[in-house]
Amino acid sequence: MPAPTDFPGTLPRLGILGSGEGSNFGILLDAMDAGRLPAQVALVLSDNPGARILQRAAARGIPHAWVDPGDHPNRFSPAAQQSVSDQFREAGCAVIVCAGFMRRLKNPVLSDFAGRIVNIHPSLLPAFPGREAWKQAFEAAATETGCTVHLIDAGIDTGPILAQSRVPIYPGDSIDDIRRRIQTAEHELFPAALRDFLAALPPAGESGPKP
Ligand code: GRF
Repeated sequence: MPAPTDFPGTLPRLGILGSGEGSNFGILLDAMDAGRLPAQVALVLSDNPGARILQRAAARGIPHAWVDPGDHPNRFSPAAQQSVSDQFREAGCAVIVCAGFMRRLKNPVLSDFAGRIVNIHPSLLPAFPGREAWKQAFEAAATETGCTVHLIDAGIDTGPILAQSRVPIYPGDSIDDIRRRIQTAEHELFPAALRDFLAALPPAGESGPKP
């Protein structure tokens, strides 16, 4: 049987959003290369012009661009939301994958890609939504945390959960120990959860993004 990568034209096209390091993006690329994640990256977008995720895309010859987020330090302007939706639709993306994207998506991205925006979050949702979830777990003196792959909806880390992985917190752990242990778990969970999600997706055209 041919490997999934023998037919690149038929693989679901992913649009990636990230703001920083992009280690999860790198893991997804490795899984695609190894045939464990039958998908292809069509375009990488970032709100941060210096993000390493853009450099990773450049190094692999993957189309990538900075999207001007607007003036607010955390928000993503209406023009930026429109630009993300336009660029991913023009690139023929079936699914958006948020791999460390630090701004909230709104319409038209949410409506154009309804049920097709996947995120990785560093906690066992619904516990510790929002920023620096590993620090929240540390400050709450939790004995366990984890990571969650979920769909993005209009709330903050409230969308349907696709998969989770548990991570222990040991006495004496620093915030950084917790963060690192969560990331190791993310790198296992994300490619597998995304593969399962893509496998269950209706064929493009039946419920795909708005053309
Ligand atoms: C990950 O911990 C993810 O859960 C969170 O942002 C971080 C991104 O890390 N949303 P990286 O950019 O993939 O290295």
